Amino acid sequence: MKLVLGVSGGIAAYKAALLLRLFTEAGYEVTVVPTAAALRFVGEPTWAALSGRPVATDVWTSVHEVPHVRLGHEADLVVVAPATADLLARAAHGQADDLLTNTLLTARCPILMAPAMHTEMWTHPATAANVTRLREHGVHVLDPASGRLTGVDTGPGRLPEPEEIFAAAVALVDRDEDGTAPGQGSDRHTPGSADPLAGDLAGRHVVVSAGGTREPLDPVRFLGNRSSGKQGYALAEAAAARGARVTLVSANSDLLVPAGVEVVRIETALELQEAVRAALPGADAVVMAAAVADFRPRDYQDNKIKKTHGEGQQDAAPTIELVRNPDILAGLVAERGTSASPVIVGFAAETGDASGDVLTLARAKLARKGCDLLVANEVGRDVTFGKDDSMVHLLRPDSEEVRTVGPAPKLVVAGAVWDEVADLLTGHGTVPAGQ
Ligand code: C5P
Repeated sequence: MKLVLGVSGGIAAYKAALLLRLFTEAGYEVTVVPTAAALRFVGEPTWAALSGRPVATDVWTSVHEVPHVRLGHEADLVVVAPATADLLARAAHGQADDLLTNTLLTARCPILMAPAMHTEMWTHPATAANVTRLREHGVHVLDPASGRLTGVDTGPGRLPEPEEIFAAAVALVDRDEDGTAPGQGSDRHTPGSADPLAGDLAGRHVVVSAGGTREPLDPVRFLGNRSSGKQGYALAEAAAARGARVTLVSANSDLLVPAGVEVVRIETALELQEAVRAALPGADAVVMAAAVADFRPRDYQDNKIKKTHGEGQQDAAPTIELVRNPDILAGLVAERGTSASPVIVGFAAETGDASGDVLTLARAKLARKGCDLLVANEVGRDVTFGKDDSMVHLLRPDSEEVRTVGPAPKLVVAGAVWDEVADLLTGHGTVPAGQ
């Protein structure tokens, strides 16, 4: 897989070095094409060392190889990160005043751009018009993330994390190989073609719960669990990369919110239930990746519970009475009734015990919960809680087949889950017009 990594001249160029590593480690053959301004931020030796290949810097080097045409022709994918306001402007207007813009004009493969700039530049009507124009030309332009910018300011304009750009690029390649990518390949320049950013989840709204709920006992204590939120956040990230509108209901996770994802922060199981319900009208799929507490303390103590409880009771420990939390997933299934929408996905953390192995337990849980897909996590193998990798079995009620994924990065697991959801959505009504 031949990839051109274009780097334009913004401070975020240093993050492109990390992105380059992700690509090379995944086996891509990467030629880095930095602009002259990019080279002022990160020098040629860095790109050459990390890519293991000569760096293509201008149209006047090795002219006999016609680099301004060859690089674009040979590429299977072009990624520009960061794409500055200036690069977006030049690319939108078909300028060819350096090697990178020449390459963008000659490439007939998918092109992904990850803009990064100050908020004022990103929100300026000129930049907005350039982005619209590029998207009309079939270029996939990611929305920048919000957060801390170079100075003291914050706002939209931050380069998405290298892992997010990588995931979006991989999703593009996968779709292109399937031949299912709209607005790609030879029709990339067809005016008025379908939304060029569209993936197989374009026009869909998905709700993902992530993290672990906390059930407060008093102002300082809670009953909680070890869920990091990594799997749920990876699901949100992967769905956004595939074109979905994503609402992420996040329970007590401080992970970085993926670009383009709307987050609703909650703490308890009851709040999670309310937030999921509020996001649900019109949603196409709900993925319950959160670890929801089955029980909560019956009474919340307004004041911190003291070590001692009164005269003569210094050593007595308090008894905490618990009550059941609702099973949110089962409730969603019950409320959906006989409708096929939304698609409902449950997670299960299983270890296997005397009553059966992981798959037997998962099959029973799938039947009990009544959802459309159960993602059974193998826990206790040092591959799930808080880790970047996990191993899952995907089970559907309509099939005896089990798809096993991993141990693999949670982003890969997320991709497999969305493959199943996309399959389940086929036939669940059409995507609204204009998507
Ligand atoms: O029954 P168990 O807790 O193993 O089921 C896990 C699945 O059910 C997860 O998808 C989790 O988000 C969901 N769940 C829920 N409400 C609960 C407990 C779990 O929706 N009270």
